[in-house]
Amino acid sequence: MFFLVLVPFLGQSKPSGSFHKILRLVLFSVFILELFMTIFLMYYKPPTTWLNHRSSDSTKNIQNVYTATNDKNMTIVLIWLWPFGTKYEANVCSSIFNIEGCFITADRNFYSKSDGVVIHHREIAGDLSNLPKSQRPPFQKWIWMNFESPSNSEQIPGINNLFNLTLGYRRDSDIHVAYGSIVAADTVEDFVPPSKNKLVCWIVSNWSPDFTRSKYYDELKNHIKIQTYGRAFQKSLSKNDYLNTMSSCKFYLSFENSVHKDYITEKLYIPLSVGTVPVVLGTTRENYENFVPRDAFIHVDDFKSPKELADYLLLLDKNQELYLEYFRWRRHFRASINSVAENTCKACNYLRWKNEYRAFKNLNKWFWG
Ligand SMILES: *[C@@H]1O[C@H](CO)[C@@H](O)[C@H](O)[C@H]1NC(C)=O
Ligand SMILES: *[C@@H]1O[C@H](CO)[C@@H](O)[C@H](O)[C@H]1NC(C)=O
Repeated sequence: MFFLVLVPFLGQSKPSGSFHKILRLVLFSVFILELFMTIFLMYYKPPTTWLNHRSSDSTKNIQNVYTATNDKNMTIVLIWLWPFGTKYEANVCSSIFNIEGCFITADRNFYSKSDGVVIHHREIAGDLSNLPKSQRPPFQKWIWMNFESPSNSEQIPGINNLFNLTLGYRRDSDIHVAYGSIVAADTVEDFVPPSKNKLVCWIVSNWSPDFTRSKYYDELKNHIKIQTYGRAFQKSLSKNDYLNTMSSCKFYLSFENSVHKDYITEKLYIPLSVGTVPVVLGTTRENYENFVPRDAFIHVDDFKSPKELADYLLLLDKNQELYLEYFRWRRHFRASINSVAENTCKACNYLRWKNEYRAFKNLNKWFWG
């Protein structure tokens, strides 16, 4: 573009009046400015945040929508209500989880074409007024998604005969999704835990004196120093601080808010993933061992009293060799945390491979029993 300015500038071969001098000066300045601009633009790559994300996303979505509506082999899963407000969409399954042929959307215009509709329990209103109202297509399955335990899930009478499939932490769910999993390590080598400057830690937001875990803590703290964080202790941690704090503790109290079969949450899997030994309180040791190696955690039931547990933790604190025994499993495995997005992809995968008729007639009895 600066060539346009260059042409008249070069044409001025002889010096003339002061008007022309000023004109030449102005043109010359513009020329230099444009030269710099051009060089700048040639070499400068703007950060992606400059670009309008929405436009590139929606292009991708249009492509996906096209594929979803035209490819008979594409399974469409409609997320009726965002679980915990976390959003994920379209090709998350194939791009992140290697699950092909799934189209995940929250766009309700897809209702009549959706093979499955995922409905997260916590988001259902008591009067069911926020559930789909149009006629359910004959092939469509409604999937009841719930990650909370019965103690912390509101029982809604009307949901008894609505669903076709269950998705949750219980192993007898149609689509079983745990909060995390123990997966094969990428390489076989001894695991070295991160450096520690705290002994026992506990991060907790939800406090009730009636919880079994609160009573246990109240007794345990008389025998061993426990560093506490979280809303319950007016010491909330950011996501980053959360992981850093957890990994700097030798032991973490993975105390569940309620005791139910298979109810084992991220309170166990996060410490396992960052290299901290979880001390669990929840379902039985036997039940925990269905999900994680027996030497990866300490169970409060292994001890007659909180004092005995404290004595054992103090012993491990002094004996590094004994402490490291709790990381032997890491030679062959590692812990991963499952996301709600991944769980939705698993639901889609289930629909792809098991497309027979299915109705679930007794949700309330099954879950709240
Ligand atoms: C449909 O998808 C399945 C699973 O991804 C694949 O095995 C099969 O080859 C696909 N069929 C067609 C016709 O694309
Ligand atoms: C899903 O469950 C509902 C309610 O029990 C039932 O009416 C419907 O026929 C079932 N659909 C499929 C595809 O299994």
